Amino acid sequence: MKDAAPATPPETFYLKDYTPFGFEVDAVELVFRLAPEATRVLSKIRFTPKPDAADKRFFLHGEKLTLIRAAIDGVAVSPEVTEIGLTCTVPDAPFTFEAEVEINPKANTALEGLYMSNGMYCTQCEAEGFRKITYYPDRPDVMSTFKVRIEGSEPILLSNGNPTAQGEGFAEWHDPWPKPAYLFALVAGDLVNHPDRFTTRSGRDVELNIWVRPGDEGKCAFGMEALKKSMTWDEEVYGREYDLDIFNIVAVDDFNMGAMENKGLNIFNSSCVLASPETSTDANFERIEAIIAHEYFHNWTGNRITCRDWFQLCLKEGLTVYRDAQFTADMRSAPVKRIEDAIELRARQFPEDNGPLAHPVRPEEFQEINNFYTATVYEKGAEVIGMLKRLVGNEAYYKALDLYFDRHDGQACTIEDWITVFQDSTGRDLGQFKNWYSQAGTPRLSVEEAYENGSYTLTFRQKTPPTPGQAQKDPKVIPIAVGLLNPNGDEVVPTTVLEMTEAEQSFTFEGLSAKPIPSILRDFSAPVILTRDSSAAERAFLLAHDTDPFNRWEAGRELAKDARIAMVTTGASPDAAYLDALQSLVRDDSLDPAFRALCLAPPSESEIAQALADRGLTPDPEAIYDAAESFAQILAQSLSDSLPRLFAATLVDGPYQPDATGAGLRALNGRILGLLTRLDGGAAAAKQYASADNMTVQNAALACLLKAEKGEAQSEAFFQQWQSDRLVMDKWFALQVTCARPDCAAAVAEALTRHPLFTIKNPNRFRAVMGALSMNHAGFHHASGAGYRLLADQLIALDPLNPQTTARMCTAFQTWKRYDAARQDLILAELRRIKAVEGLSRDTNEMVSRILDA
Ligand code: TRP
Ligand code: ZN
Repeated sequence: MKDAAPATPPETFYLKDYTPFGFEVDAVELVFRLAPEATRVLSKIRFTPKPDAADKRFFLHGEKLTLIRAAIDGVAVSPEVTEIGLTCTVPDAPFTFEAEVEINPKANTALEGLYMSNGMYCTQCEAEGFRKITYYPDRPDVMSTFKVRIEGSEPILLSNGNPTAQGEGFAEWHDPWPKPAYLFALVAGDLVNHPDRFTTRSGRDVELNIWVRPGDEGKCAFGMEALKKSMTWDEEVYGREYDLDIFNIVAVDDFNMGAMENKGLNIFNSSCVLASPETSTDANFERIEAIIAHEYFHNWTGNRITCRDWFQLCLKEGLTVYRDAQFTADMRSAPVKRIEDAIELRARQFPEDNGPLAHPVRPEEFQEINNFYTATVYEKGAEVIGMLKRLVGNEAYYKALDLYFDRHDGQACTIEDWITVFQDSTGRDLGQFKNWYSQAGTPRLSVEEAYENGSYTLTFRQKTPPTPGQAQKDPKVIPIAVGLLNPNGDEVVPTTVLEMTEAEQSFTFEGLSAKPIPSILRDFSAPVILTRDSSAAERAFLLAHDTDPFNRWEAGRELAKDARIAMVTTGASPDAAYLDALQSLVRDDSLDPAFRALCLAPPSESEIAQALADRGLTPDPEAIYDAAESFAQILAQSLSDSLPRLFAATLVDGPYQPDATGAGLRALNGRILGLLTRLDGGAAAAKQYASADNMTVQNAALACLLKAEKGEAQSEAFFQQWQSDRLVMDKWFALQVTCARPDCAAAVAEALTRHPLFTIKNPNRFRAVMGALSMNHAGFHHASGAGYRLLADQLIALDPLNPQTTARMCTAFQTWKRYDAARQDLILAELRRIKAVEGLSRDTNEMVSRILDA
């Protein structure tokens, strides 16, 4: 069968084609006359031609706009208008371009540009949404100051910068910091605020607000504390202060991603800012704190210094993710955060880097930039910064960052600028390090050891498998943090960073009295896959003795993975030594409960599938599921004597606090409840559900009951209690699918799409059902193909409404090559069915084509 081609082949954009815009934009003035179906946008833009411009064409982006009139220096003109923008003849001297356009926010279901959410106007302009608001050079290297006047009957009218005037039916704003159009924002609605103040260390008094719909004002306090902590932290750690008189955050229910760093007016998916003990879990609280920090930190890494073009996206995202991870590590537990990040990276970035969607941290081509807001750009991009810091050292890192802010403040920069700052500041040649930005794929690192006469040698080999469009890979600079333990468990060589630059390289340690036990890649010092043939005994030894918490956890994880793989491939029962090690760990009260909870968390079924595929085997999702179930059953039985005591010991008393200590205890408690439920038929979970006074505990109890197929009454009660709270209902929708048995997951999800509270137009609700289905590994990959079919049906229905969210969800199919021929055929048929849809969006077409080209 031939794949149907779209009517006009989509255009591909290349990094190598970069050319600067031929004009400076000196100032922008905008007037918005708000009306749900016919908003008028009046623009006045001052341009100055660049005398030495290579490209002198005057082209302004513009999509889905109705041009009412245009003028240059006050004289009406008739530009040539196409689907993507306008051109016209302009003077060879500074001039003012004026336009009036009409747009329809109410009809905008793509949630990009100006749209409406629950009667409130809001915008989303990154990456290329401003062109749906008015005609403009919509590219990040065009920066200007903005004056905005909003005319509308809504009580609250917000834009970027500082407020300059307001009265009956209007408000005016001025943003003095030159910015690209993607950072523009406007909000208008009937909103209430949670106000506060912050004084920066140089004495600037800043007004802070979190704006929400009436009724949500009680869910803002935690976010506000997180914001103030972030502001203090950036001053203390990076020396960066806030630079306006006001900082506004707005919560919006309909939003494609997590949040957006618009200058002075951050807009958040309400799920990423609203929090209360009754409605939010510990995981929600931690995520909200991190996202508030992330968007705030963008004020310097993203806004004051922005990207020259969208290929440089990791310049702001990798660095800002790295900064928010540092913040979370400081606010909570550094080892726990590191372990959580490694789990995330392996679950989301490794499959991307090892499949058809693999791309470099800095991509060199794209059709639709929205498809490149990926785990590779964000999370691997952050890992690259972490490696750089490990290589140059702490002090040199912060010195280089000072130079970066000094040298590039107010500019639109590239990865080359970033690397040059580090080279100039440290005197190091980072030519080879740049491979991390240009070459996709996860390096495989293998290691062999030799010991003779007190000298111990580790020999490493690195190899990165080919990725689409990149057959050949060069060796990367890999910082390998290593420590050595002697056989009685004492550390004889503390953590040392080995700097690997060759394809094969040896490092020798002298003066050891016995053959040591190595702890390699401590703190997950590089985003690589480490393969090492070591015995279960040695892993158990590290699980008991390693001083590095990450590797201690990793040793347990490797044991768990090996046990599962053995169960799947040979039917072997789990190693007794491993069960013993796990038992003593769980009972060890000297260990952080959060750490113990992580050690008890099993590797995901998808991770086992990937591990099998890496060994050249074809994963069978049902067998993997069965192994997971029986492993949990065996673990529960082996711990049965201590479970009731452990459960009681991890109950947190006193009022709920969302801090790391309480969260750690509750995480461990939840794990133990899961095991207990396998033995007591749900009695403890039902009791906990009945007495729960916070969502973490309520949610955990309901999940245990649903998994045990004993939760019908509680599920109904949960629904009755929370049906008017959207964010809690998202949890309810997701839980049904997450906890469903593999053979009915698709049917459960399908029924939920017909539930009166399901709406395809709200991305949170759509993800609650379809995202949960795609993450129920055995359910999604059920041999019937029902999971694949349902997801394809839903994606086809969503694409005309919201291409961005549709395209993102296509990643559920990216691992199709792992599975057997029958499943491959089923997936291929669905991908081809999507691709054949007439008028398929550019976003979805690009994703499906890349996945099909595997
Ligand atoms: N820049 C945002 C961030 O990382 C994310 C973002 C990009 C986004 N495009 C978006 C958010 C579209 C919402 C919608 O913080
Ligand atoms: Zn970001």
